[in-house]
Amino acid sequence: MAPAETAAVDAPWFQGLQNPFRESTSSGTHRAEPCTVVIFGASGDLTKRKLLPALYNLALDGLLPNPAAIVGVARRPVSHDDFRSQMREAMGQFSRRRLASAEVWDRVAAGLYYVPGEFSEQSAFVRLRESLEQIEKERGLPGNRLFYLAIPPEQIATVVKQLGAAGLVSRESRPWSRVIVEKPFGTDLASGQRLNAELGSVLREDQIYRIDHYLGKETVQNLLVFRFANGIFEPIWNQKYVDQVQITVAETVGVESRAGYFDKAGITRDIIQNHVLQLLSLVAMEPPVALDADAVRDEKVKVLRALRPIRAESVASETARAQYGAGALSGKAVPAYTSEPGVPAASATETYAAIRCYVDNWRWSGVPFYLRAGKRLARRATEISIQFKSPPHSLFRGPASSRMEPNVLAVRIQPDEGISLRFTSKVPGPSPTLQPVRMDFLYGTSFGVEPPEAYERLLLDSMVGDSTLFTRSDEVEQAWRFVTPILEGWQQLGAHGVDSYPAGSWGPRSADDLIAHDGRSWRRL
Ligand code: BG6
Repeated sequence: MAPAETAAVDAPWFQGLQNPFRESTSSGTHRAEPCTVVIFGASGDLTKRKLLPALYNLALDGLLPNPAAIVGVARRPVSHDDFRSQMREAMGQFSRRRLASAEVWDRVAAGLYYVPGEFSEQSAFVRLRESLEQIEKERGLPGNRLFYLAIPPEQIATVVKQLGAAGLVSRESRPWSRVIVEKPFGTDLASGQRLNAELGSVLREDQIYRIDHYLGKETVQNLLVFRFANGIFEPIWNQKYVDQVQITVAETVGVESRAGYFDKAGITRDIIQNHVLQLLSLVAMEPPVALDADAVRDEKVKVLRALRPIRAESVASETARAQYGAGALSGKAVPAYTSEPGVPAASATETYAAIRCYVDNWRWSGVPFYLRAGKRLARRATEISIQFKSPPHSLFRGPASSRMEPNVLAVRIQPDEGISLRFTSKVPGPSPTLQPVRMDFLYGTSFGVEPPEAYERLLLDSMVGDSTLFTRSDEVEQAWRFVTPILEGWQQLGAHGVDSYPAGSWGPRSADDLIAHDGRSWRRL
C-alpha cells in the first residue's frame, strides 16, 4: 500500500500550534528553542548508544536547536576533548546514519562538554552550575536547561534534590528547566508514589518527563492516528464487535549484562507495568478532546483506572509466570536464566508473564485483554491484535467453512512494522472453498524512509516542551495500582508458582492453559 497523499496534521502534538515553546519549521516539524542538554550518567551505555546518536541525528535533520550545548556529567575525570572523541567513535557504531556528515558532527562536538562530579556531593552541583553558566555565556544560550538522568533509579531523587538546592533548576517558565527521568519509576505503588512526591517537591509536574521509549516508536504513535484519523475502525472498536485483544512483547534476548537490575525487577516490572500497559491504554482509550498532552493522558489514565484489579488471591487463575531454562535460539544452545552471569542460582524471578485482564467500562465490558511478555522467546515480536467476533450466523457450513477464521487486525509494533487485517476469502475455482487471507500495510514499503529512533522523537519533544509522549505521575501510579497486588500475590505463592519454559520456545504451558481456559489461544507470531 502506498500513501495516497500526505497531509499536515492540525494538532499541537504534531505542530505545536498551542505550545508557546514551540516554533514550526517550514516542513511543519516542531523546533526547539536554544538550550543546554545536561546528561547525568554520561559514561554509561545509554549515552553512547542512544542519547548522543539521537542528538546527532536531530542535528543531521536540522532539528537540534542552534545554538545548543550538550554537557556530559559522570564520576570519572575525562577531558572535553576525550569525551568528544569517545562520542565521535560511538556515532560510527551506534548512530542510525553512522557518521553521515563530519561537518555536522564537528558543529555538535563544538558544543559538547564534560564535567566530572560525584552525584552525592553538593559541591559537584555548585561546580556544575558554574560550568553551565560559563558555557551558556560562551555559546550565547538563554539558560534553558534539559537534564537527562541516565542514572540508577536509587540516585534519581538525590540528584533532583541536588539540582534544586544548587539552583540548577527552577520552577520559572523562562528560562525553562526540565528533567527527563528513565524508568523504573519505583518498584511498586508505595515507592512510585514516594518518587513522584520527591520529584514534585522540586519541580512542577509539567517539568518532569518520565520516558517510556515505547511511546517514541513510530508504530506506537500511529495507534492514535490509526484509531482517530480513520472513520471506519472506531464504530467497531468495542465489546459489541471485539472478541479479545492480545498484546505481546516477545524478545529473543535474555538478561544480557543487566542481571543486577533484572533479577530484582522481573519482566512484570520491566515491561508490563510500563510498555505493555501503555500500549493497552492507547488501544483502549476514548477519543481525547484534543491531541495535547493532558487531554491524551487524561484518557489513558481512565483506562488504567478501569482495569479490574487482580487481587492477590486470584493471581493463580488470572496470571502465569515463568522462567526460562536452557534451550536453543537460531540453532545455538543458550543457558538457563539461573546460569546467566550475575543471576543467583536459586533465583525465582519471572522472565515471562501472562495476564488476563478486563477494562471495566462501557466500551470494553466483558472483553478479555491477554497480555504477555517474555525474554528468550522464539522470535522478537511486539504486536497488538484485535480479534473480532465471528459473524452472528454462518451461511458457510461443512468442509467449505473448515478454514474460516475470525477477523484479526494485527498492529505490528516491531519488527516488520505495519498493520494487517485478516479476513476470509473464496479460493478461486468451482468448489466453494474458503481461506483466510491478509491485507497488509508495511511502513517500509509504503513510505520508503527509515523511521527515526524513539529517542530522537522523545528528546526533541522534551526540548520543545511537549509531554504527550511521556508518562504523567497519575499514569505511573495507576499502573502500579494494577501491578502491585499481582506482585504481592506472587510473593505469597513463592517460588512454587514459577513455571518454566525452554529458551527459544513460546513460553510456558501455564500461559497456554490460562488462555485455553477461555476457549482461546495465543496468536502464533
Ligand atoms: C526496556 C527493558 O525498557 O525495553 C528491556 O528494560 C527490554 O529489558 C527493552 O529489552 C525492549 O525495548 P525494545 O525497544 O528493544 O523493544
